[in-house]
Order: sequence, then structure tokens, then C-alpha cells
Amino acid sequence: MTLQFPPGFQWGTATAAYQIEGAAQVGGRGASVWDTFSAQPGRILNGDTGAIACDHYHRYAADLDLLQALGVKHYRLSLAWPRLLPTGRGPLNQAGLDFYQRLIDGLLARGITPHVTLFHWDSPQALEDCYGSWRSREMAQDFADYATAVVKALGDRVTHWMTLNEIFCFTHMGYGVNQVPVHAPGTRVASLKDVWQTSHHALLAHGLGCQAIRAASPQPCQIALVDNFLATVPLTATPDHIAAAQKAFHTVGTNGGIIFPALTGEYSPALLAQLGDQAPDIQPGDLETIHQPLEALGFNVYSGVYVRAADTVVGYEVLPLPVGYPRLHMPWLHLVPESLYWGIRHISMTLQRPDLPVFISENGCAAQDEVTAEGEILDLDRIHYLRQYLQAAHRAVAEGYPLTGYFLWSLMDNFEWAYGYDRRFGITYIDYATQQRIPKASFHWYKQCIAAGQIL
Ligand code: FCB
Repeated sequence: MTLQFPPGFQWGTATAAYQIEGAAQVGGRGASVWDTFSAQPGRILNGDTGAIACDHYHRYAADLDLLQALGVKHYRLSLAWPRLLPTGRGPLNQAGLDFYQRLIDGLLARGITPHVTLFHWDSPQALEDCYGSWRSREMAQDFADYATAVVKALGDRVTHWMTLNEIFCFTHMGYGVNQVPVHAPGTRVASLKDVWQTSHHALLAHGLGCQAIRAASPQPCQIALVDNFLATVPLTATPDHIAAAQKAFHTVGTNGGIIFPALTGEYSPALLAQLGDQAPDIQPGDLETIHQPLEALGFNVYSGVYVRAADTVVGYEVLPLPVGYPRLHMPWLHLVPESLYWGIRHISMTLQRPDLPVFISENGCAAQDEVTAEGEILDLDRIHYLRQYLQAAHRAVAEGYPLTGYFLWSLMDNFEWAYGYDRRFGITYIDYATQQRIPKASFHWYKQCIAAGQIL
């Protein structure tokens, strides 16, 4: 059967500043926590850092041509806070602003709408030195001030804003663990309560950030939060298992303390009961601040968990995956395409937000790409993965859920955090020695899908 997406469906790709820009010391950019973290021995696989990355800062024009060749009309990028405010606060750094103006103007000139994430993990080292970044409530206000400065400067040409990317990753994975590799820099804090306090501060940053964007924007704009909430997939789509998946949705991962307060204005009662005295301190007015009106939710989805109804106290079981369960080239990258569909459905039925448009702000996979003698990258495994997730997206659209777009992660191979350059998520291969860009088979495949508005 032909799986046709509606004409207005937004096809895009996504990247993030630290993962592609490089030029870490160019144009007055300040250090970010990721510069510091990746410079520490043993933190990143093979000792990689984002100092050069894809050198996108210098090669952005060629990369924009690549986007144009792909045929996307939407592109998700992030801004590096320390490139714009080198010490985290104060006046904008003109050279940093110039870069993003060039980049955004280049997109607009090619008919591509920029979707801009204000924070994709690379916070200024200066704020870490000053008060420990997300350990402090001050970070929320500094983020809002940063948002004000940026939106005043770029709001004439950008109308699609995202506040923070994946609160769980840069708070719970940064502050809650002391293992290598971790997904984010941070400091191990004393208790689970302190970890939840960091994500509470991030939620406040989101809320104050929304208010700041709206106040500063010179024109009507769209604001989204980007979250990688964990989708619970019912083992069988029957009422009992669906009800179990709905219950479990509150307590798996960090859903109950991140996506719940952001979209409903309350931490999930089930999560709070579980946390007991480890729940974060919530000051009067915080939940109202956090629960801002949003035009959309960005859903980053790579995998999910299966749940079934069970005769247990809670009434459900989260199922362990068998040893041989298929996965792509990351330990956590299990193939659960239904998670895309059920994640969207949970926003509607479990969080009771059927009104809220959702777009897939990231979906993609790492594969063990090889260049053939003919110079091709035949990433059939990536196409296999993408096709299945797109089928789940089509199902959501066909059933009337408000899924508005899909941003493939990623336009090109890049610095995959603690895994460095070892893991390739791109549909464009980067030869890091020469910085040559080679579109993979998945690039050509996705291009055809976009042109037809179909899964081919
Ligand atoms: C997400 C991040 C993104 C990238 C993908 C693979 O958690 O938002 O930067 O690393 O995973």
C-alpha cells in the first residue's frame, strides 16, 4: 500500500551546534562544558573532542547546499550559547551573531525554514564555574536572559523556536552518574533528590525561556520543548495492555517529572509517590512557570519499552528485552518502531493533550558504515530502520493524531557525545581526515521519499 503523507507534512533533518560546528576557539566563542569535559582524558571514546567536528562553522555554505540537494524545506539546528554569550551572560558576541545570521540567511535563501533549538547541552563553562550550572536555580534566569538576547537579534528571521533539548540527558545523566561514558558533563550530586532538582531547574529554564521568547519576538512565533520521553508500547494492543502501558508511562524513565509537569503543570502523582522524600523542592509558582502554552512538542524518539498488564501491585510489568533483540550501533538503540506511534498516542490519551501538535524532532540510527571500493556507503540497515519508524509516523497521521513533521537525525555524521566520532548517525558520511561529505544510500532514499511525500 502506498503510504502517502499529507502535503503540509514537514520533512527535515536535524543537527546540533557542538556536534558539527567545531571552531571552538574562533570568533570569540567562550568555552562550553563540553569543551572542558571532552578535554579530560578517558571521558570520550578515542579521546575525541568537538574542537573541529565537521568544521561546519567554516563549511556551512556547502552543508546548506547539501540540504538543498536533499530537498528538505525544514532544518533543525541549535545555537551555541557560549558562541553568543562567551561568559554565559552580558552582551551578545558580534562574531557569533554574525555566524548565525549568515547561516540562517543561507537557509532562507534556499527556501528552508530554520527550526532553532536554543540549548542542545553546550552550556557556558563560565556558568559552571560560577554556580555549578543546573545545580543552581540561577541557571534558569540566565537561560531566559540568553533567550531574550537571541530572539531580539534573530527573531526577525526565525519563527520556530525550541527551548531545551532532552532535559533528562543533560541533567539526570550528567549529575546522577559517575561512569564513563556518560551522555553529559556534570558533577555527581549527593542524592537522587539533588538530581531531580537539576531537572526541576531545567524545567524552570524552559518556562522562563518560553516567556522570554514570546516577549522578545518581533513577530508571532512557535515555541516547542524537545523531549525524549520514554514511550511505553503495549505488548498487545488490547484494552488491558494499553491501560498497563498508560499507567507505566507515568513512572518509566523520567517521564513523570519532565514531560508531565511541562505539559500538564503537575509532576505525576505516581512518580511523586515513588520518590517520597527524594522529590525535588518545588517553590510556589514554579509549576505555573513551567507549564507554559506551547505551539508544539518536539519528540526525539529512537527506541521504547514494551509493557504488559500484570497481576502486580502497580498492575503492569515493563518487559526486559531478550539478549538477541535487534538493535543498531548503540547499546540503547533497540529497534522499537512502534514507540514513535505510541509516544504520540500517549501525549493525546495519557497526558490528555490531543490539542498539542507533535513533530518528530529527532529519529535516526547509528550504523557501521563502510565506504565501498566504488566510494558508496550502502547503509541498508539505516534505511531499514528509518522505513519502519516512518511507517509508525504514517500510522499516527492516518489515525488523525496531530503529527506535523519529521526531522531525521542527522544530516551528517557528527560528534556523538561520549562516543565521539566512532558512531555515525548521518545520512551523509563525513571523512574526518579530509572533511569530505559523501551522501549515503539513505540520503538518496530519503530524498526520494521527501519528493514523493511517501515511504519508498
Ligand atoms: C540524542 C541527542 C542528539 C544525538 C542523538 C543520537 O539524545 O539529542 O544530540 O546525540 O541522541
